[in-house]
Amino acid sequence: MHLTATTQFGLEELLADELHALGADITHVGSRAVEFVGDQKLLYETVLWSRLAMRLLRPIAGFYAPDEATLYRETGRINWAELIGPDQTFAITAVVNKSSFEHSLYVAQLTKDAIVDQFRKRTGRRPDVDTRHPDVRLHLRMLENDVIISRDAAGDSLHRRGYRQATNDAPLNEVLAAGLVLLSGWDGRKPLLDPMCGSATILTEAGLIAQRMAPGLFNPNKFGFENWADFNPRLWQQVRQEALAQRIIEPQAYLAGSDIDPHVVEQARRNIAAADLTDCIHLEVADVKDARRPHDQPPGLLITNPPYGERLGQETEMAALYKTIGDTLKTNFQDYEAYVFTGNLEAAKSVGLKPKRRVPLFNGPIDCRLLKYELYAGSRR
Ligand SMILES: C[S@@+](CC[C@H](N)C(=O)[O-])C[C@H]1O[C@@H](n2cnc3c(N)ncnc32)[C@H](O)[C@@H]1O
Repeated sequence: MHLTATTQFGLEELLADELHALGADITHVGSRAVEFVGDQKLLYETVLWSRLAMRLLRPIAGFYAPDEATLYRETGRINWAELIGPDQTFAITAVVNKSSFEHSLYVAQLTKDAIVDQFRKRTGRRPDVDTRHPDVRLHLRMLENDVIISRDAAGDSLHRRGYRQATNDAPLNEVLAAGLVLLSGWDGRKPLLDPMCGSATILTEAGLIAQRMAPGLFNPNKFGFENWADFNPRLWQQVRQEALAQRIIEPQAYLAGSDIDPHVVEQARRNIAAADLTDCIHLEVADVKDARRPHDQPPGLLITNPPYGERLGQETEMAALYKTIGDTLKTNFQDYEAYVFTGNLEAAKSVGLKPKRRVPLFNGPIDCRLLKYELYAGSRR
């Protein structure tokens, strides 16, 4: 089957590598999406194992729709009874770009009408729409009037792993946090520290990687494909059992986080417990200026996501904070690789170190960079 996994800008190549490692035959790496071919087992494994996919879509049909009548007619040519049971609910999300249709909501409405009308005509009954928890979630993507309609195999965005109990104001989404860890090239063994850890998303994702835990195992709900007519419960059970068997209990790497806010550290503790990683991640309340590399450990990595200071008038405060981060890295983290993920490029200059690498990414709408610094004895200058 042909499948499309979507992700965040900047993570496409890593997602293609991840899917390839799962056994996918990659056919196209596009902007925020990777297309591939695989069988049903691969679909189940992708939903369970992918750390970088947001959505996993299985295309149903593709056509050109220059106008409303064509969109309605082409949607009506799909045999919807094969895809949505009479007692199932469905929802449709449309994303429209550079097309003659201006409003995606209108496109979604028109498509929904075509589906419902077909059911009414053929059976006299119609499935209900449930936009929050549909049994079958459909996606329509229209680019320059070329339409692809797909089913969402996961049913929801896979970044919602299900371990998050509580969050601070600005948690990273889990896919982005996993992306930062994987972009750093961390080997899953070296020490990894986050001295401004917030709700500890970076460390939790690192812990799942190190302990070979499938992120999809935390999902408390059904995945979309479990409501499909071709769902194979035995195969799904087998894929889950294989995933459970891969987990390593013994901590594989020294992972430690700290944050200045005790309340936030408490939230991090709850999230880590929900991810079953309590024995793998050390937490404490501390100011970043007091962060030190653990001397009983070999050199490792530091990955952190400081505040960006989006409110007006925070420029001086942010410059001082980023200078403190830079001073701490230079003084206390010799022989480390440090990654600072920020949307405040002006404040980042106050780190006072020359980045070896700058990876463009987005945190929601905010244009960000993952800045890599290499720290060695001479970097104090
Ligand atoms: C953008 S948030 C980090 C979010 C985190 N990546 C997550 O996923 O939840 C920045 C964090 O830096 C912390 N912070 C701010 N100033 C600090 C300082 N001087 N020392 C340590 N932590 C600090 C804040 O309390 C906040 O939790």
